[in-house]
Amino acid sequence: MRRISRRGGKPRLSKRGRFSRLTTAADLSADELAALSVAAREASAFAYCPYSKFRVGAAVLTGDGEIVGACNVENASYGLSICAERNAIFQAVARGYPQIRALVLYTPTAKPVTPCGACRQVLAEFGGEAAVVCICDGGESIATTLRELLAMPFGAV
Ligand code: THU
Repeated sequence: MRRISRRGGKPRLSKRGRFSRLTTAADLSADELAALSVAAREASAFAYCPYSKFRVGAAVLTGDGEIVGACNVENASYGLSICAERNAIFQAVARGYPQIRALVLYTPTAKPVTPCGACRQVLAEFGGEAAVVCICDGGESIATTLRELLAMPFGAV
């Protein structure tokens, strides 16, 4: 877990403008995005994925400015496996940070991959306004929001 300073003012865009779609209150500074990206990549090194061999890392930025990273953890009973995103969200909540401002997902792929439906629903519980950035080994990234990824999440009635 890493602490980074929150900076006020307008969000800055990356040089290549790749994150220009982040235009909501969940906007990230370039520093926040850089720190989250490093944490997500680092977390993927710990992936336990003997079945899929797909190493995933995710990092969340909490409302308190904490960064929590985690990897996917699989099980011989495949359905018990957990994605990196949910693992990171649950770990943040378990440490006392139940508000998620942003999530970065790293996959070792040529093109960025977006979070699965289950992870979107879990993120909706703790970060309805969260920014979501998907990065990979290729040059492309996807910068979006949970709202865009999950238009009508289930909520308690
Ligand atoms: N996985 C993630 O951790 N996050 C995603 O967004 C996609 C899938 C994991 C689950 C499983 O361990 C492996 O990748 C293959 O699906």
